[in-house]
Amino acid sequence: MEKPFDRIAPYYNRWIGRFMSARMDRMAEMIACSPEETLLDLGGGTGLFARRLVGRCGEIHLLDESQRMIEQADCEKIRVRSGDATNTGYPERSFDWVVLSDVIHHIREQDRLFTEVARLLKPGGRLLVNEIDREKTLGRLFGKLEGFVFPPVYHVGFMELSEALARYGFTLRQKVQDTWSFIALWEKSRR
Ligand SMILES: C[S@@+](CC[C@H](N)C(=O)[O-])C[C@H]1O[C@@H](n2cnc3c(N)ncnc32)[C@H](O)[C@@H]1O
Repeated sequence: MEKPFDRIAPYYNRWIGRFMSARMDRMAEMIACSPEETLLDLGGGTGLFARRLVGRCGEIHLLDESQRMIEQADCEKIRVRSGDATNTGYPERSFDWVVLSDVIHHIREQDRLFTEVARLLKPGGRLLVNEIDREKTLGRLFGKLEGFVFPPVYHVGFMELSEALARYGFTLRQKVQDTWSFIALWEKSRR
């Protein structure tokens, strides 16, 4: 079955790649992974971000529901899988790091997504999120525009997301906020 990003896939790297480049550099700085650690880029699309981590993290995995997006992510160093971010099929506690870059607001069943992320991370594992912030005026505006161009979308706000993640045992460790978005790093409880 065709997925929403199948249609955008041919243009994604050219359009979004340019717009997101500096932001992804900033995100990569926040991933202090080691060669012994495993990372999953969930909803990782064309691998724009995952490629930045090759050589720094050990195993890098990428899962996305759009076949045409992941065709472009396919590279020797990234283990690519097609699937649903809310029900990935990876074993419990598989990863030291999970990345959700520009993904949460494309998923309606966010509680299922967070349950899955908490299941996939090892105790003390880290979650990096890059999102538009609907608690900011400009973020709301961008969210609305995105909703017109590319519905449906389910934007979150930073505080709202923090509260949700706290219920899954996540503690905020680092945050970079601007007038419309945030990049934030959470750590899963060690218990
Ligand atoms: C805006 S793109 C972001 C891609 C990539 N993370 C990046 O930052 O370049 C959103 C991605 O989420 C994927 N996606 C949306 N819902 C998904 C789901 N339920 N399971 C897996 N992937 C999903 C889309 O196919 C798309 O590739």
